[in-house]
Amino acid sequence: MTGTEKSDHGQWSSRFAFILAATGSAVGLGNIWKFPYITGENGGGAFVIVYLLCVLLIGIPIMMAETMLGRRTRQNPIDTMITLSDEAGADKNWHYLGWMGVIAGFLILSYYSVIAGWASAYVLKAFTGSFFAADASEIKGLFDGLIASPIQLIFWHSLFMLATMSVVARGVKTGIEKAVRFLMPSLFVMLILLVAYAMTTGSYDQGLKFLFTPDFSKLTGDSVLTAMGHAFFTLSIGMGAIMVYGSYLPKDVSISKTVFLIAGTDTVVALLAGMAIFPIVFASGLEPAAGPGLIFQTLPIAFGNMTGGWLFGILFFVMLVFAALSSSISLIEPAVAWLVENKGMNRKQACIWSGSITWLLGFGTIFSFNIWSGFKIFDRTIFQLLDYLTANLLLPIGGFCIAVFAGWIMKRQHSEHELGMPNTLSYQVWKVLICYVAPAAVFLVFLHVVGVL
Ligand code: PFF
Repeated sequence: MTGTEKSDHGQWSSRFAFILAATGSAVGLGNIWKFPYITGENGGGAFVIVYLLCVLLIGIPIMMAETMLGRRTRQNPIDTMITLSDEAGADKNWHYLGWMGVIAGFLILSYYSVIAGWASAYVLKAFTGSFFAADASEIKGLFDGLIASPIQLIFWHSLFMLATMSVVARGVKTGIEKAVRFLMPSLFVMLILLVAYAMTTGSYDQGLKFLFTPDFSKLTGDSVLTAMGHAFFTLSIGMGAIMVYGSYLPKDVSISKTVFLIAGTDTVVALLAGMAIFPIVFASGLEPAAGPGLIFQTLPIAFGNMTGGWLFGILFFVMLVFAALSSSISLIEPAVAWLVENKGMNRKQACIWSGSITWLLGFGTIFSFNIWSGFKIFDRTIFQLLDYLTANLLLPIGGFCIAVFAGWIMKRQHSEHELGMPNTLSYQVWKVLICYVAPAAVFLVFLHVVGVL
């Protein structure tokens, strides 16, 4: 026990439970909805390579750091930063890092829930046979019809937020552990089957070539920033979600092994999603750069035309909703844990407060697809602005600060002890990555985007 622990804080039942929950947080819409469409918008292979490098050199070391910070104090991210910066005698401004994470969580969840609402709407569409024998233009019509309707979007967004709030209200262990244990493996199997279907479309080679053959002339400063931001988004790092999950992690678990496993699974899921989607995109004459509607305009074509596609379509979208749910709960857990541990609320009250704020914020995203689609700030709709602000700015800034804190501010013996690898080569490698490589990479990408480099 370290002197910084609070004992009234929950704990996972095992290492496996943490792996499930953290993988549940990492694997979500980011892998299946976002990764393919941003890859499509940013030219394919070269973007994928930058993303993979960012996961390896920036994401994994920061994920280890974030887990370690949470586990050391066993408190919510806001109190974690207060406790650890006081322990290290560091500047009080470090306290704001926890707050920034909570705000980023609200902002992300406000649009994440709207997209998860699309996936929920597609469960019903799949069930009623809307994809049956449909061609690309009919499927596009379905999607356009959905996002043009504020009422439908509000309905599905509300339903998803209610689901999130009711799982979180029950606590981290009960709801989350059970659901993810069964759902993650099922999602994985379905993705593999979809990749197998994609092989039969006739455009498999073209799809794979797009995904894996780099053409660096297609990379811009902004696409490098998007790839880096996505590494943070997809691993759920930079805002305290993994910190709060780390705070429930038993002391005897190896952080490095666990993090590698989670990041590896997350990456494989994203690549499988890309391998399933791009062949269908090319086979159906669609545009890889179709934007956020990409999976909703491609996968239903597969479901509508394959044997057993009705059942498969329903199951796929159900899995997608659950993958989104196991991520969304981690987006409000930092705020809920803080409200419970500091404001004397019970989990239910804390969920109602934080859930309602997010629900209301979600209206901005909903309207940005229809009645406010012409309203732009810095040339972006509200949805695009929220996405850019959180994934490309707040998460990398949060991650940068976590790296600096874990690498430079926290005492060496503390990080060695928490990571459980005193003076080993792995520790040295981590230390170089967290002190130099990760912060410098984030900084350089920012300089490049603002035009200094
Ligand atoms: N990692 C999730 C996904 O890929 O869908 C999204 C996410 C969850 C981002 C939690 C950030 C976070 F803190």
